[in-house]
Amino acid sequence: MSLEVVVLAAGKGTRMRSRLPKVLHPLAGRPLIMHVLERARALDPAQISVVYGHGGDAVPRAIGDDTIRWVLQAEQLGTGHAVQLALPDGDDEDTVVVMYGDIPLIGVDTLQSLASLPAANGGLAILAIELEDPAAYGRIVRGCDGRVTGIVEARDATDAELAIREVNTGFVAAPRGLLRGWLQRLGADNAQGELYLTDIAALAVADGVAVDTLTAVDAVEVQGVNSRAELARLERCVQGRIAADLMDRGVTIADPQRVDVRGKVEAGRDCVFDVNVVLEGRVVIGDGVRIGPNCLLRDVEIGDDVEIHAHSVVEGARIAAGCAVGPFARVRPGTVLERGARLGNFVETKNSRIGEQSKVNHLSYLGDAVVGNGVNIGAGVITCNYDGVNKHLTVVGDDAFVGSDCQLVAPVTIGAGATVGAGTTLTRDAPPGQLTLSRSDQRSIAGWRRPGKKPR
Ligand code: UD1
Ligand code: CA
Repeated sequence: MSLEVVVLAAGKGTRMRSRLPKVLHPLAGRPLIMHVLERARALDPAQISVVYGHGGDAVPRAIGDDTIRWVLQAEQLGTGHAVQLALPDGDDEDTVVVMYGDIPLIGVDTLQSLASLPAANGGLAILAIELEDPAAYGRIVRGCDGRVTGIVEARDATDAELAIREVNTGFVAAPRGLLRGWLQRLGADNAQGELYLTDIAALAVADGVAVDTLTAVDAVEVQGVNSRAELARLERCVQGRIAADLMDRGVTIADPQRVDVRGKVEAGRDCVFDVNVVLEGRVVIGDGVRIGPNCLLRDVEIGDDVEIHAHSVVEGARIAAGCAVGPFARVRPGTVLERGARLGNFVETKNSRIGEQSKVNHLSYLGDAVVGNGVNIGAGVITCNYDGVNKHLTVVGDDAFVGSDCQLVAPVTIGAGATVGAGTTLTRDAPPGQLTLSRSDQRSIAGWRRPGKKPR
């Protein structure tokens, strides 16, 4: 006996008003359906089938996972039709769990309990929840003895049925053989002219098969995404959980409502995140790291006691212990800062290594540069690394001093201990230990008069 999961994701998601299929809209930086698949995998199923349709093969292409059995539902004729198409062949006794691609936060424990019910009751298991406002959800109808008699869609419900607050979340589990039989008997005689998966409840009852409900722990775990407003609400909810988890692990967060993690973050102890910190991709942060307000960090590794000052954007970089970056720094992919290096305000780096204790404090651009240890790069120094076709390397030796407002026309090398005078346009290598400068002579013209305005 094994377990299979069918995920329904063919629907249009009309209320999103989007070109992107609904299940590809990101939640905490990952498509909705990725959250669903991650939870489905936690059940360790023999197979996961995903029904896709609206948006063509955009969903399978975006997810790019060929361990999944992708099932095309060209026309969306209802949830029952979708499961009909997707129901994999196999042992009648296997349990099949149906999930929706747009309900991303289902609890793994809840899912496990649901999946284990059919083996216990030999019949249908429905995940239900009681809602203050049952809105458009399918209502779970019970007889006087309290047993489920069926599920009625809101659009097909009588006023009395609409008053029921116990609703179908959409998650169901059943033995494959019984499910197949019920699906074959579905009709479309309803308000939407669709094959409703929910009709299997009444068919099971008619067959005298057990129909049991399990109640979801909280409304968030069964909350679907139908609109951008609902997506935003779930986003805040996920972010709240991530912030709480980071705080539990020893991170101080100035305002848990104003930190966003769109990926995976590992942070050491005694880190401090100021407001509006956004972390994307894989972010690994050591101990005692301080991140100032309004910073974006994407795919970075940061050592202990680093300080990222306000308004900095750091992407694809490795920053060793004790470094300082910003405010207003732009650290682009391929940047490596060695221990104790400093990048100040309005400094941009790309594909560059800055050695230990070296300083680039003001208004500079370093691209394709290898800067040694103990180097001082003055204000406004620019590497001219691009000739319009190729990128070239700039090498700066240990303990060099580059004066302000220099252009380093690559490929070019500045030797160890060299000094480059302010305002130099360096087009040839600067030898180690010497002063190199290129500068036109300064003149002063005595008696020169500034042009004046004529009196009117
Ligand atoms: C469905 C349930 C309703 C339940 C609600 C919970 C039915 C008939 N109704 O209603 O009882 O309270 O979910 O959210 O099942 N889909 C397909 N192919 C289709 C139709 C839908 O793959 O032909 C997918 C959608 O992409 C979506 C899911 O099935 O992920 C649910 O479809 P949706 O149209 O949103 O169902 P509801 O009307 O919300
Ligand atoms: Ca829905």
